[in-house]
Amino acid sequence: MTNKILVTGGAGYIGSHTCIALHEIGYDIVVYDNLSNSSREAINRTSTLIGQPIEFIKGDIRDAELLRQVFASHQFFGVIHFAGLKAVGESVAKPLMYYNNNVSGTITLLEIMAEYDVKNLIFSSSATVYGDPENLPIDETSKRSCTNPYGQSKLAVEHILEDLAVSDTSWSLITLRYFNPVGAHPSGQIGEDPNDIPNNLMPYISQVAVGKLDKLNIFGNDYPTIDGTGVRDFIHVIDLAQGHVAALNYLEKQTVPNESGVAKQNSIGFLPINLGTGKGTSVLELVSAFSDISGQTVPYQFTNRRDGDIASCYASADTALTLLGWEARLSITDMCRDVWRWQRLNPNGYKKDL
Ligand code: NAD
Ligand code: UFG
Repeated sequence: MTNKILVTGGAGYIGSHTCIALHEIGYDIVVYDNLSNSSREAINRTSTLIGQPIEFIKGDIRDAELLRQVFASHQFFGVIHFAGLKAVGESVAKPLMYYNNNVSGTITLLEIMAEYDVKNLIFSSSATVYGDPENLPIDETSKRSCTNPYGQSKLAVEHILEDLAVSDTSWSLITLRYFNPVGAHPSGQIGEDPNDIPNNLMPYISQVAVGKLDKLNIFGNDYPTIDGTGVRDFIHVIDLAQGHVAALNYLEKQTVPNESGVAKQNSIGFLPINLGTGKGTSVLELVSAFSDISGQTVPYQFTNRRDGDIASCYASADTALTLLGWEARLSITDMCRDVWRWQRLNPNGYKKDL
């Protein structure tokens, strides 16, 4: 059996950390990315951390011809599919771009996988598919609904994967629903590198702490939570990367010898799994933890709630533990420490000069 994995979006934030985790346990990786939200510098640094050059193909998941060439020249065990656009606000302004990239792109990828009989996929979904949850912690059977085009694009792909698994039982389609990924590689060499002013909380806090931004706006202090601010399930990107390794191991374990001793993979169809810690942390708690670790004050002010935000969101992580034997190990302190190291060493992210 081949141990080669195609990693779409492998130059991005979660993809680059996952490449390291995959390499560490002996997977051969090929990164396919159009660099629309990443850089060659991320690939170079990931290669340095791995200790050998990563095989990198600059390409778009909507480019069927190039994908065909890639599948014709490699024998893949499966695909980890990170490639996608992820900014909620931008998706509201440019819905067609989001549906085209995230949904049409995934359909093209699946079509080419089918042509080459590569039927193992791990897809990057999001806790956003749960909308405003009725119950906490959120388990995988919770109702799904979305209010913005980014979330709709993730939900649409989930529906496509479900239909595909019904139509052809030889597919194994693991859908990992990430909660709030934060953190950076402990080396401080790779991490999250948002363009412009960050939309998400952790990179915003770290840019305030390093002095790039004046103060944090906390969107609402009247939620029904421990201190009135939003509660989220922050998960270290290193734990998240290990979650992908665990999912691949799970797929490999489905390969058993048939009566004639020939290795045969039992397919698992569509399988959604939450990747979260199971613990909620409020915005104020995260600010306080970051200040403690960095030794910097993080000035903030309360402003109105942000449209579309929910009060609380945290995972039931039981399925990941039961099926994959995976659970998050790193703490909020670890997350803040690693983000702070990455921020201090790379005040402009991967961009050398600004
Ligand atoms: P990222 O933007 O850092 O990485 C995505 C990568 O995909 C980038 O390198 C980008 O250049 C590439 N890409 C985008 N469109 C492409 C296309 N058409 N063809 C080829 N490459 C393309 O984002 P990330 O934070 O690493 O997220 C990875 C995946 O996880 C995304 O699908 C995202 O929606 C999902 N996700 C992220 C979060 C989060 O908060 N970071 C939460 C839930 C789900
Ligand atoms: N927040 C602030 N100020 C900021 C940014 C965020 O107070 O400047 C608050 C938000 O109101 C929320 C919490 O911090 O209460 C977390 O906000 P993020 O923007 O960091 O994360 P979200 O939970 O809103 O969404 C993120 C991703 C989505 C993804 C979701 C679940 O942006 O794409 O996690 O994975 F779908």
